[in-house]
Amino acid sequence: MASKVYFDQIGSRWDELRRSFFSEAVRDKALALAYVQPGQVAADIGAGTGFLTEGLVRRGVRVIAVDQSAVMLDAMRQRFPAEDAIDYRQGDAEHLPIDDQSVDAVFANMLLHHVENPPNAIAEMVRILKPGGRVVITDLDEHNYTFLRDEQHDRWLGFKRAEVERWLVEAGLEQVRVVGTDDHCCSASTQSDRRADVTIFAAMGRKAGSSTTEHGDAAIHDAVRQHYAAIASTPSASSCGCGSDGCCSDQSRLYDPALIAELPVDVTGLSLGCGDPVSIAGLNPGETVLDLGSGGGIDCFLAARQVGETGYVIGVDMTPEMIARANASKARMGLTNVEFRQGQIEALPVDDESIDVILSNCVINLSPDKRAVFREAFRVLKPGGRLSVSDIVTEGTLPAYRDIDLTDWAACVAGAIDVEDYLQLLREAGFVDVHAVDKATAAEISGESAHAGRILSARITARKPLPA
Ligand SMILES: C[S@@+](CC[C@H](N)C(=O)[O-])C[C@H]1O[C@@H](n2cnc3c(N)ncnc32)[C@H](O)[C@@H]1O
Repeated sequence: MASKVYFDQIGSRWDELRRSFFSEAVRDKALALAYVQPGQVAADIGAGTGFLTEGLVRRGVRVIAVDQSAVMLDAMRQRFPAEDAIDYRQGDAEHLPIDDQSVDAVFANMLLHHVENPPNAIAEMVRILKPGGRVVITDLDEHNYTFLRDEQHDRWLGFKRAEVERWLVEAGLEQVRVVGTDDHCCSASTQSDRRADVTIFAAMGRKAGSSTTEHGDAAIHDAVRQHYAAIASTPSASSCGCGSDGCCSDQSRLYDPALIAELPVDVTGLSLGCGDPVSIAGLNPGETVLDLGSGGGIDCFLAARQVGETGYVIGVDMTPEMIARANASKARMGLTNVEFRQGQIEALPVDDESIDVILSNCVINLSPDKRAVFREAFRVLKPGGRLSVSDIVTEGTLPAYRDIDLTDWAACVAGAIDVEDYLQLLREAGFVDVHAVDKATAAEISGESAHAGRILSARITARKPLPA
């Protein structure tokens, strides 16, 4: 292990060297991608002298710091003499001294290019991760500064992002994305006048499984619930749920004005969607309809009119204030074929195979576990049942900083995924005839560069197959 000798030699000087290699921006990006919460446990693999660990303990996270070099770990102990939130373990990234499924997040900053077999190291990171937790790897993009191999014992000259993405997927992670960090790693050769200048990527993947109570997903749900509770508690709420950035517009542009003309202003004023999923659903009298994230109920009330007295509409929303507003409107309209249930769309309070049509308007993008949403949608649909949703999606990947701010998530930006990934998740859940029937360009929220990814409102349809 040549790099171990190297790091033992430079351990006491590493912190100073590190500062010239990469900046704190890399750490901020990594922490932002992990949704790690105070009180949780994170593993910092290849912890060095504690660059990432420092940011984690500052946020109240307990850290298992693993490094192959005892000298590095000693230097780290000296940096944090009074810190009892750090558990130091000497060990190899490909054989981590950590139990299975025991940590909430795994970080590896500038480690991967030193390991012998990167896919093995990633598999180890996934092994120790609890379901719902995230792996975040920050490392160098592919480069050709060969002096780094000789002088700093880099095993790999960076990586292709597509290759890292494939390794994370092959290790069983979902919601995988690899993005730039806007930071560069600079390092001058000691033996020539060459100077490396290499961009740094951040790669993130989430381990499948429910984590709604003890992981980062809970923080996302809380932020989203608070955002919509505040809107529902505003008497004349007519603000757009998807923020003022143009990812949704006023309801007269979303719906045919004739369609909503007879709805009370309390309902149209609390329309927070980004499209009109009802019109493409082709509802028939007598059908049972489920609206995921029903909010103030606009789509439920439109659907109730179309399915008639012999049909039935259920709206599910996790925000009690939204359920209260929807029920108040229902009572005022005297409807008997609509019901609102409080619950999460990742665990629907709805019977198996009981629904003909699922609607949803600008909600699934808000879910931190879209795979669970589609699995649940598939479960509750009758065979042959349809799904018709309007949602915010992207074309391309958004910059990583969009994940930082939970306000961005609640405003339908940070949780939006690439439209092709969205369609693929539906197929993986078992849906067939999966189509994005139309897409409307919303404002280009990032406004940064043509490569930043575009935010769109799409109408998406799919069908649960009949038994063969
Ligand atoms: C942008 S609003 C859309 C409301 C409604 N569909 C409309 O078009 O007016 C999003 C709604 O989804 C709800 N919501 C978000 N995430 C949810 C989840 N995981 N489970 C259940 N409801 C959720 C919020 O409480 C909010 O009412």
